[in-house]
Amino acid sequence: MPTNMAEGPVILAGTALPILPVQILWINMTTAVALGLTPAFEPCEPDVMRRPPLPPSLPLLTGAPGRPDGVRLGHPAGVFLRAFQWQLGAGAPVELARTVAMNVLRPVSELALPHRADALARLAAGSGVPGAILVFMIPANRPDKVHLRVFTEADLAFLDRLCTDPDALGEFEWPGFGDPRARRKRWESDGYISAESAAVAIARADDTVIGIASWKPRGFPSGVTYEIGVGVLPEHRGQGVGTVAQRLLVDYLFGRTTANRIEALTNGGNLGEQKALERLGFRREGVMHGRSFYHGEYVDVLVYGLLRSEHRPGTP
Ligand SMILES: CC(C)(COP(=O)(O)OP(=O)(O)OC[C@H]1O[C@@H](n2cnc3c(N)ncnc32)[C@H](O)[C@@H]1OP(=O)(O)O)[C@@H](O)C(=O)NCCC(=O)NCCS
Repeated sequence: MPTNMAEGPVILAGTALPILPVQILWINMTTAVALGLTPAFEPCEPDVMRRPPLPPSLPLLTGAPGRPDGVRLGHPAGVFLRAFQWQLGAGAPVELARTVAMNVLRPVSELALPHRADALARLAAGSGVPGAILVFMIPANRPDKVHLRVFTEADLAFLDRLCTDPDALGEFEWPGFGDPRARRKRWESDGYISAESAAVAIARADDTVIGIASWKPRGFPSGVTYEIGVGVLPEHRGQGVGTVAQRLLVDYLFGRTTANRIEALTNGGNLGEQKALERLGFRREGVMHGRSFYHGEYVDVLVYGLLRSEHRPGTP
């Protein structure tokens, strides 16, 4: 639907066509055929066969909090046309501008439907579908581009920010004012990796650090249980980074250590972290009442756990 809503105004605009009929045919073919297959790769939600049918009175476009349908479905048209005009304005021949516009249209439309991008990534990872087709369709800034790596000297400004900027760790994790050099000192002493606790950088494809992922052994004997934690800079939240980073960390711990259990504690109000953990298969095991103190009151902390036998590497 976002693709068609982008194509429609373009044809009616009456100016030089940003894409030609044959290009529209190609886009429609990839939309209808290749992308139509991707739902088959979606894991089923547990209650899928127990859900009642949708009421016939339900409108086709239902809207979503923070991302109304009008914006979600309409923005590809704007971006697509802008790309065409930008190329022409820069002196590019119309053929080049059309090529750029066509290549912008597909990924931008996919961004309007994030679940499509997830399914495509799975398809790319596990099928024989020609890579070129999939690369063409997958948005460049997918959170799967995120990776974990050790902190380096170039990350010291990031580590300092975690000590000084309350927003950097978020309302639930900021521990209050402390030594602004604490994390820098820790890095200088052991590179943030030790048997007692460790942390690594969450980095984008260009290696810029955008968050921190940590783990430490819990319980006895050491090596059976690890507690994990994650923090994503505010400007990178809500884009799937927290989920993917924790998936990478869980894969790493189950793949490289003798961990049998990974656990995470999170504030009862931290809905983003709860959803991320649940998407990774963590089970909510219980509530520790009044365990923490935030914003002048005692608050509950939730306990999440994932056993090695429950872990499916690489999901979501
Ligand atoms: C918690 C945190 C790591 C989540 O990372 P993120 O990259 O923002 O999360 P994601 O984009 O992967 O989103 C995960 C899910 O939470 C939802 N979500 C994200 N922020 C949300 C919010 N503020 N309220 C409700 N849901 C939210 C997303 O829609 C997504 O749900 P879905 O899987 O159903 O689509 C990040 O917000 C953060 O760093 N917060 C500060 C530090 C912190 O609290 N760390 C957790 C310590 S245990």
